[in-house]
Amino acid sequence: MTSQKPVILVTRKLPEDVERRLGELFDVRPNIDDVQMTTGEILSAARDCDGLLVTPTDRIGADLIAALPDRVRIIATFSVGYDHIDLDAARARGITVTHTPEVLTEATADIAMLLLLGAARGAHWGMRMIREATWGAWAPTHPLGHDVGGRRLGIFGMGRIGRAVAKRARTFGLEIHYHKRRRLSPGEEEGAVYHGTLEDMLPVSDFLLIACASTPETRRRINRDTLSLLPRGAILVNIARGDIVDDDALIEALRSGRLAAAGLDVFNNEPDMDPRYRELENLFALPHLGSATPDTRRAMGMRAVDNLEAFFAGDRPRDALT
Ligand code: DGY
Repeated sequence: MTSQKPVILVTRKLPEDVERRLGELFDVRPNIDDVQMTTGEILSAARDCDGLLVTPTDRIGADLIAALPDRVRIIATFSVGYDHIDLDAARARGITVTHTPEVLTEATADIAMLLLLGAARGAHWGMRMIREATWGAWAPTHPLGHDVGGRRLGIFGMGRIGRAVAKRARTFGLEIHYHKRRRLSPGEEEGAVYHGTLEDMLPVSDFLLIACASTPETRRRINRDTLSLLPRGAILVNIARGDIVDDDALIEALRSGRLAAAGLDVFNNEPDMDPRYRELENLFALPHLGSATPDTRRAMGMRAVDNLEAFFAGDRPRDALT
């Protein structure tokens, strides 16, 4: 007897509870090896599928979407970001795309604070001194990091995550500034200072947090021109996507000391980041850990399954993007 359950291709291994629930609801085509699938492999595995459950490292571009069988009617991504999916191409084929907002806000805001504090106080070189046993006697004048309290934090992209970081940052004594396309209500602003343009906010950003989505408008928005507007010695933190930053410009600013430090969780071309980053003494970097806790990953998976379940029940999924 053939299964009546919708058939779902799942491109990576997922948390156990999530896989169990997926198995109860759907006929799952798993990626047993848990190795990133190529476009060709996704296409060939999607042949007899009704939906795809993908992750941010799967490139779901226009070519792949155009070649999908008509049977595929939904693509659910296990991520809040959806820059890896061509939404216009999905719309053109009548495919629903969903993502997983809200459930990773707090975990990602925690990582933002870790990066901000780590970059400011030299967590990277401090750890190196411990590991390499180069810790000399305590000295009054070196090594030194930078103060956080009493300075200004400019947040580029004041969505859920930006606001969750603002809340944490206030308790560290930072004054909050932000830029986003539409101004928040006074209740949402909680005293943060709005700037109608990024260029207006940068000169008052002792710390700059990139928390916006990667879109054609924001790609390479942090470049030589915009970096030059930051106060000398500013600290940049990126928890969003690597492609919002121009690597050449950022590396040059960190090498010259124009920027005091950076805290990065995301890079262009992950995991093959520009190797020059590895040589920077003033970079505190993590390998895209924003949502990486068991509870958060489980919640992201359950949210993706909620969306698939709603879709195959004939409802519009709560997190539908198309
Ligand atoms: C997302 O969900 O978009 C994150 O980058 C994964 O942590």
